[in-house]
Amino acid sequence: MVCTSYWWLSCLAILLLITEVKSSKHPQLSNENGVKTAVFLSPKFVLKPGYVSNKDYNDIDFPRGHVAIKSFNAEVIDEAGNPVPLHETYLHHWVVLRYHQRKGVDIPKYHGNKGFNESDYAIVRNSGVCDQDLLQYFGLGSETRKTATHVPGPYGIEIGNQAEIPDGYEEKWMLNVHAIDTRGVLDRSGCTECRCDLYNVTVDGNGRVLPSDYYGGLGCCYDKTKCMVNKGFHGVKRRLYLRYTVKYIDWDASIVPVKIYILDVTDVWTRPDDSRGVRSRHSCRVEYDVESCDIGVANDDCIHAKRVSVSLPTSGDVIYGVAHQHAGGTGSTLYGEDGRVICSSNPVYGEGKEAGNEAGYIVGMSTCYPSPGTVKISDGELLTLVSNYSSARRHIGVMGLFYLLVADSST
Ligand SMILES: *[C@@H]1O[C@H](CO)[C@@H](O)[C@H](O)[C@H]1NC(C)=O
Ligand SMILES: *[C@@H]1O[C@H](CO)[C@@H](O)[C@H](O)[C@H]1NC(C)=O
Ligand SMILES: *[C@@H]1O[C@H](CO)[C@@H](O)[C@H](O)[C@H]1NC(C)=O
Repeated sequence: MVCTSYWWLSCLAILLLITEVKSSKHPQLSNENGVKTAVFLSPKFVLKPGYVSNKDYNDIDFPRGHVAIKSFNAEVIDEAGNPVPLHETYLHHWVVLRYHQRKGVDIPKYHGNKGFNESDYAIVRNSGVCDQDLLQYFGLGSETRKTATHVPGPYGIEIGNQAEIPDGYEEKWMLNVHAIDTRGVLDRSGCTECRCDLYNVTVDGNGRVLPSDYYGGLGCCYDKTKCMVNKGFHGVKRRLYLRYTVKYIDWDASIVPVKIYILDVTDVWTRPDDSRGVRSRHSCRVEYDVESCDIGVANDDCIHAKRVSVSLPTSGDVIYGVAHQHAGGTGSTLYGEDGRVICSSNPVYGEGKEAGNEAGYIVGMSTCYPSPGTVKISDGELLTLVSNYSSARRHIGVMGLFYLLVADSST
């Protein structure tokens, strides 16, 4: 390849492109005592100040074969491989979905948010409990860098078992990354909370008019929307990636599979009633708003506690638990029917400027690793999830999720 000075820039671009493709097709792999580590890069996404990228990437690089996933970590990096701090690129969330795709069908690389054609693709949901949302296997947000995800001991998340893949289909993985470039924005926390007025948005990503009492949330910060930037601010266009690190081991009979559950504090649960032919339904709204407390209440007493009671379809031993909250969150606890604490997960706020310690952001969530067998959920047990936020000021589009790994105690 000859790079004349005139073509130098485009040549550089082509060279970069080649390097990128190589790095994503040839992940860094290592193997330590049978635990393999693979580091992958997502397709690149490009952001300018104020802009949002919310894209689905089909058929991402992922460990293949019948394996047990032992951990899944991720972070946003720039072209040079440097971690990007949250106050520049706010990682609203990333999620990884497992699906079965009919062999031979061609799918566009970017599926947008249109979902899947059900005859060609079937999402392999986690074990519950929401009906339509939160079907992912893995996913976190701003807390990604400092949240433990390892699956301990003999346990693992089983994937790639040929016996579970329907004939004529293959197992694949989809990644969704939702990131907001907040360099130079007028109101950083307003932009990260996706306040509709700051995005100057009145219709959602599907063109539907938003209700007048909808102040913010995912409906206002979809792909290509822009949050208000200070006049005169100029920032360069950036090419970014989600770098994800997966640890896994080859499957064998000694591994104990765990089920993934994601509970949502906004879940509206319709309990089953066989006598009336009503089946169990879980309508999860995922986001909710926290109104500010009354004037005159001391800040420390301004706590908004939201709770929900649900039960899991199976019983078992809790192996791991972690909550997901947005800035303003003060902790979340899952209780058993008798009031015992199953797991409490608390946010860790950053205190500096560097990636992983950004002041004002949740940079990690504490996790629970009960010793196996000590925390059990029994059949049909009613669990109560509580998600607390500071209501010293109003918060829009917050979340209260709880991710649980449960080993079936009957097997
Ligand atoms: C889905 O796939 C089926 C079978 O391949 C096809 O007939 C149908 O038109 C597709 N639907 C959409 C919405 O693309
Ligand atoms: C907001 O959107 C409206 C209609 O799309 C447009 O006329 C107006 O200039 C926008 N305001 C700002 C501040 O961008
Ligand atoms: C949530 O707030 C309630 C009421 O203020 C309090 O009793 C509870 O301990 C809090 N839980 C957590 C996990 O912070």
